Amino acid sequence: MLPPRVLIDATRLHQRVDELAAEVSLAFRGLDELTLIVVLKGGFMFAADLARRIDIPARIEFITLASYGDATERGDIRLLADIGTSLEEKHLLIIDDILDTGHTLAYLNRIVEAHDPAGVRRCVLLNKASRRTADIAVEHVGFEIDDVWVAGYGMDHAGLWRSLPYIGVVDDPSGG
Ligand code: IMP
Ligand code: MG
Repeated sequence: MLPPRVLIDATRLHQRVDELAAEVSLAFRGLDELTLIVVLKGGFMFAADLARRIDIPARIEFITLASYGDATERGDIRLLADIGTSLEEKHLLIIDDILDTGHTLAYLNRIVEAHDPAGVRRCVLLNKASRRTADIAVEHVGFEIDDVWVAGYGMDHAGLWRSLPYIGVVDDPSGG
């Protein structure tokens, strides 16, 4: 299987993550702490890089959601592992890899709002705006991309390529 062809290389990724971290730090400026909610699995690499560059003391929580089956077929959203602590009165930053239809973040919004947080902002590395079907707002976006299937830098195609240091396009995502 050929690796995905480069769409956003590691240098551009790191430049943009630096900018996003500065944006986020500014948005939460003056707070004693914030809580990062990392959406696994896809958000792990982005969140690790972003977290290191945010200059406000942070708690880090993980939630595991799955919305896709083996490849690119959309299925129901499944909660595989919930947040194990109270988020009441916390200032939250939700970090996910990619905003596609928006249903995953809409689902997550309902989960976190039930905790009564002090406030919630959302940060996604990639936005496929043309695919949106759920009504969802995101405050911080890394890159706008077309309706293509991407993998690398945390994101997978049929479970592969998450460890690539760049984001690439899978040319024939449903094919062999
Ligand atoms: P949504 O619920 O349709 O917004 O789906 C969002 C989730 O689907 C993302 O957090 C990703 O995990 C996954 N996803 C959507 N598009 C892609 C892609 O092009 N490559 C890899 N994962 C994707
Ligand atoms: Mg995801």
